[in-house]
Amino acid sequence: MKIIKKSKELSDEVAFLKRNGSSIGFVPTMGALHNGHLSLIEYSNSDNDITIVSIFVNPTQFNDKGDYNKYPRILKNDLEKLKNVKCDILFTPLENEMYPTKDKRDFNFGNLDKVMEGEHRPGHFRGVALIVSKFFEIINPDRTYFGEKDFQQFTIIKHLTKLLNLNIEVISCPILREDDGLAMSSRNMLLTQEQRANVSLISKTLFEAQENVKYMSVSETKDWVVDTINKNPFLEVEYFEIVDEIKLEPISNWSDKKEKIGCIAVHVGAIRLIDNIRFYS
Ligand code: PAF
Repeated sequence: MKIIKKSKELSDEVAFLKRNGSSIGFVPTMGALHNGHLSLIEYSNSDNDITIVSIFVNPTQFNDKGDYNKYPRILKNDLEKLKNVKCDILFTPLENEMYPTKDKRDFNFGNLDKVMEGEHRPGHFRGVALIVSKFFEIINPDRTYFGEKDFQQFTIIKHLTKLLNLNIEVISCPILREDDGLAMSSRNMLLTQEQRANVSLISKTLFEAQENVKYMSVSETKDWVVDTINKNPFLEVEYFEIVDEIKLEPISNWSDKKEKIGCIAVHVGAIRLIDNIRFYS
């Protein structure tokens, strides 16, 4: 595995690989790698000759400075984890490499960044789009891989490639879960033992809600999910929305749209976790 810190060195390396006919898959991460990330790398390896992974905790996407400061940075561990998969190039730039000057760009995502994460984390998706567009410019991969846990992010990145006229295939990969159902996330390692024992209620409730569509309307389902989770003293739901998968517009009847997804954000003390579930009816 080659470790590269400079954008110019990476783009030169990619140009060389492309001249030799190699296809390039790109997995952007903020590190604190878990099996979910490793599965994205495996997907990339099965579709491409070369896989490039980035590790960069992107300051512009954190609307909360505290969240940015406590985001886990464990590069040594990450390097160990990467030994278990084929990662050809690891890109680990410093902040001034990615933001040598203030980037003032803005993006028009329509409704997509006005709801859910966008509504509750102002500026978050602009920050994600800033950094991912920079990575795309440097690497111009054939394919890029995003986890479905961040479903809204995946939708926005797909939109971003259209906005920027990029010929990059954006591929979403299934959520990986711990044995008790908790969606894998770098933030899980920040949970205390007590919190960790309680957070499995989030996915358990979502899976039960998925079963309950036969008996509950959309609004009953929403209320039931929020009430069930909020009854646990460790958990506080920030939002739970059931939306269509394309425009992320709220669904009011199960028959409204074919593809429906329920997205949730939950506060567990100072930590914020997200998850989602598809609804079939
Ligand atoms: O999903 C993440 O880890 C980040 O939002 C990403 C895509 C690496 C951009 O910083």
